[in-house]
Order: sequence, then C-alpha cells, then structure tokens
Amino acid sequence: MLILLDTADINSIKKGIEYYPIAGVTTNPTIIAKENRDYLDLLKDIRKVIGKEKMFHIQVLATKAENIIKEAHFIKDTIGGNIYIKIPVIREGIKAIKMLKKENFKITATAIFTPQQALVAALAGANFVAPYVNRLDNISGDGVKVIRQIKKLFDTYNLDSKILAASFKNVEQVHKSSLEGAHSVTLPLEVLENLLHHPLTDSSVEAFIKDWETAYNQTYLID
Ligand code: E4P
Repeated sequence: MLILLDTADINSIKKGIEYYPIAGVTTNPTIIAKENRDYLDLLKDIRKVIGKEKMFHIQVLATKAENIIKEAHFIKDTIGGNIYIKIPVIREGIKAIKMLKKENFKITATAIFTPQQALVAALAGANFVAPYVNRLDNISGDGVKVIRQIKKLFDTYNLDSKILAASFKNVEQVHKSSLEGAHSVTLPLEVLENLLHHPLTDSSVEAFIKDWETAYNQTYLID
C-alpha cells in the first residue's frame, strides 16, 4: 500500500514528506494551474523537494497519440527521475499507452470512472490506473464500488497493473478504498492529516502530559 500526495503546492509537499510515509506526488493540469507559476519551474521544484527516487506522476495535455508521446518524452527528459506519465483513458490515450510501453515508459492511466476503462488501460500496459472516487460520489455514483470491481478484474485476470485511487475529499472514502484493496491512494495533504486525527488521541496525549507534570513537576521524561 502506497500513499502519494495529490498536490503541486510546494509547502504541502515539504510538510507531507517531512511527516508522513510518502511514496510520491501526483499532479494534473488543474492542480498545477492552481499554483499560478511557470509550470516547468514548478515541476522542477517538486522534483528537487521529493528527490529522484520518489514517484512523480505528471499528466499530458495532448489528446492525439503522437502528441501525447512527444509530451511524454519532453516530461521525462526535462524533469527526470522516477517519472510516471499520466494519460487520460480516451481512445488516443490508449494508443499512446501501447506505444510508450514499447519504449519502457511508466504509465498511469487517469480520469477513470468505470471498471472497463481500467481493464482496457491495464491490458494496454498501464502500470497504474487512477479511478476518481469523489467525482463519482459527487454525481450519486459509487467510487468505492468501482475500485472493488477494478480489483476483482485485476485479480481475476492476474494483471500487473495497480490501482492508484484518486480524487478524495474525506477519510471515509480513503478507508473504504483501502479496505477494497486499492494498492495506492493519492491524497491532498488535508485529507492525509485527517487520517490521523482523533479527538480521543489528542485528549489522551494531553492527559498523559498533565498527569506526568503533576507527579514529577517536569515536562519531559528526561530534562
Ligand atoms: C489524481 O491524479 C487526480 O487527477 C486527482 O486526484 C483528481 O482530484 P479531484 O477530483 O479532487 O480534482
């Protein structure tokens, strides 16, 4: 199970890497545009912060296979390190996935809303498939059910492709996706921080400190 950060905000990435077991960063054009910066400088800065080893999933904008392939080369050559090219599961995207696999690119098929889209992307050679949980939930769909069914298909047909569950807005969505066997999740920092939050944890820690201070008149175990 892997946790990735779904953001291009440098401060969130620094904080995420400092405190949590983060395997990498995912972005999409909307996430990058929010930062209001030169996108190449931003992508290079993210790479600097996370280092060469962590996964960095960067999405293409092109919608024609030949242009997707050009963008993939540009991203790989310019940003470097452990790159996954994110490609939407449109028809031209699937063609590009097949071609890029022959060149040993690592691919994340994205904008996935049905199990069959995930199956086709996996058969084309995608290393990860990214189903969008919250966007499905928002239109009275069932994001977690889609994850369950993708997992079943991948297990049934022994496919190597992994689920990178995406588009999360709350802890329950993450919890249910993990229970269904999503191999990885990508989360905004706020959602990741909420995975840890529990009022009883906070009040327990406060009580431990208070009891200790009352008994020993000192704040720490060792002074
Ligand atoms: C991740 O790779 C997706 O692009 C992202 O999680 C989508 O998130 P959103 O639905 O919150 O925009």
